[in-house]
Amino acid sequence: MCGIVAAIAQRDVAPLLIAGLKALEYRGYDSAGLAVISGGEVRRVRAIGKVREMEGQYLADPFPGGTGIAHTRWATHGVPSEANAHPHIVGSVALVHNGIIENYAELRAELQQRGHVFTSETDTEVMAALISERVEAGSSLRDAVLHTVRGLEGAYAIAVINRNEPDRVVGARRGAPLLVGVGIGEHFLGSDAHALIQVTNRIIYLEEGDVVEITRNGAAIFGLDGKPAQRALHESELSADAVERGEYRHYMQKEIFEQPRAVSDTLEARIGPHGVLPNIFGADGEGMLQHTRGLHIIACGTSYHAGMVAKYWIEEYARLPVSVEVASEYRYREAVVPENTLFVAISQSGETADTLAAMRESRRRGYLGTLAICNVPESSVVREADLKLMTRAGPEIGVASTKAFTTQLTALALLTLRLARLHGLDDVRYASLCAQLLSLPRLLESALRLEPQVIELAEHLIHRQHALFLGRGAQYPVALEGSLKLKEISYIHAEAYPAGELKHGPLALVDEDMPVIAVAPNGPLLDKLKSNLQEVRARGGELLVFADSSAVMDGNPARGAIVRVEGGGDFVAPAVFTVPLQLLAYHVAVLRGTDVDQPRNLAKSVTVE
Ligand code: M6R
Repeated sequence: MCGIVAAIAQRDVAPLLIAGLKALEYRGYDSAGLAVISGGEVRRVRAIGKVREMEGQYLADPFPGGTGIAHTRWATHGVPSEANAHPHIVGSVALVHNGIIENYAELRAELQQRGHVFTSETDTEVMAALISERVEAGSSLRDAVLHTVRGLEGAYAIAVINRNEPDRVVGARRGAPLLVGVGIGEHFLGSDAHALIQVTNRIIYLEEGDVVEITRNGAAIFGLDGKPAQRALHESELSADAVERGEYRHYMQKEIFEQPRAVSDTLEARIGPHGVLPNIFGADGEGMLQHTRGLHIIACGTSYHAGMVAKYWIEEYARLPVSVEVASEYRYREAVVPENTLFVAISQSGETADTLAAMRESRRRGYLGTLAICNVPESSVVREADLKLMTRAGPEIGVASTKAFTTQLTALALLTLRLARLHGLDDVRYASLCAQLLSLPRLLESALRLEPQVIELAEHLIHRQHALFLGRGAQYPVALEGSLKLKEISYIHAEAYPAGELKHGPLALVDEDMPVIAVAPNGPLLDKLKSNLQEVRARGGELLVFADSSAVMDGNPARGAIVRVEGGGDFVAPAVFTVPLQLLAYHVAVLRGTDVDQPRNLAKSVTVE
């Protein structure tokens, strides 16, 4: 998704802006650009493709200047092209924008009637033109922005400069994040902390509707009502090291291997020998969980799959009804909310537009309260929730979520156990589930040691066009997650089914060209799954089975292979079996030579609808 960096400093800012954009590359983008006030002019470079293409152009003809804005664009209005890339310049004003302006067509028509000729297809240029009109009429840049944003519908984070006011940058946000970085004699704007961490760890998180004016020496913030507002200064814990790739070939690989540590961090000081600590959801948490009679879990993508696993857990162990729905559907339908239902939002980034909108919508629907399970403490989802449980995965840079998923499962396992305890699970079962959860980091280590075997399996898949994933029970969402990983980074078409559904349609697809990947932990459904696998075998399908090390299987399939996984018991097996599926997708993608960390068309944090 689009990224913003802006700076005002006593040094040349173009190199800082480029470094900031590089730190935002993980978000996904298709073009990049920057503009700097240099010698009384706005100088600009823009290029399709990677930041390094744009950097090359800048280095071929560099320009000095201490005030600038920069952007990585992920196309929404208009194709990826140099003309549509940001910054957009109108008159003396240059602007970068994240988000979508919903009333841009009317605004564009009005501007055209007033004689404005557009040079791009973007909604962003409309904003630049409106601000420029006001500046031409004598407003300061700050007043022009304050006035213009009042007439916008939709979501935006912007950074704007004016050639005639070279000592300031103005920013504004609504529905998309924007942060102020506070340096010594220099200030910055960024769409997330990664963009700023190389220059400062002192961060101010702007609130909805805020407008900010940064100068070398300060940041003046104005709230929704246009009056001066105070916002707290935070010390970000993000370190530049945490976003380094180290010895790994890709961020995704690094993040897969970080899972034992990330899960152990997510458990730390939350579960002990006597079970889950009662206060981990904050002061109001215990009362709310006691009153909970059902849960609605809302999320997107991988986070949605984590929610699906939690449904199996919470219904089995806490005996509370759970519904799980993708946020983009939930937000537009009239869900029935039974009394004392807890709304749970799951999001790695905490800025996913659909999840955030669903959470805001839930406020009007009469829930008992909202719980956020999230990886970014200062994110909008966390700030707006009543209760929060942070996953402690650390920054996830690869677009394909890996450690975010297993730490979400860990947080949801803690929620399950606390609910189960409050809603009558017996001591013996409770103790056994807690013991399983405490062993999860070790089991993940053991799953990671399967990498050499998984690389061999990956070779079976590199020339395939399709793959089918099967699981049963709580492993069905794991199969869904495995197929999502494979399709998003290797571009192999993959689908997942609950194995019992095979005979109701997808079996028609199975022949010698269709690899079938099955997750087969030990448990009450194993025999059922084995029958489903026989159906595949009988049709000559190639079977790649991840089976529990203690499961009795029917020998190696004639075509395919069985990999043994130390599953660790029903409760934690979904997290453990996820690891070989992540490794499989990763190695297939590496062998196919795709852009693993930044797959085509995808963005890390989807902050537009
Ligand atoms: O930040 P979120 O967890 O809210 O993001 C939701 C999805 O966009 C995300 O999980 C996406 O499906 C994964 N990155 C895919 O690997």
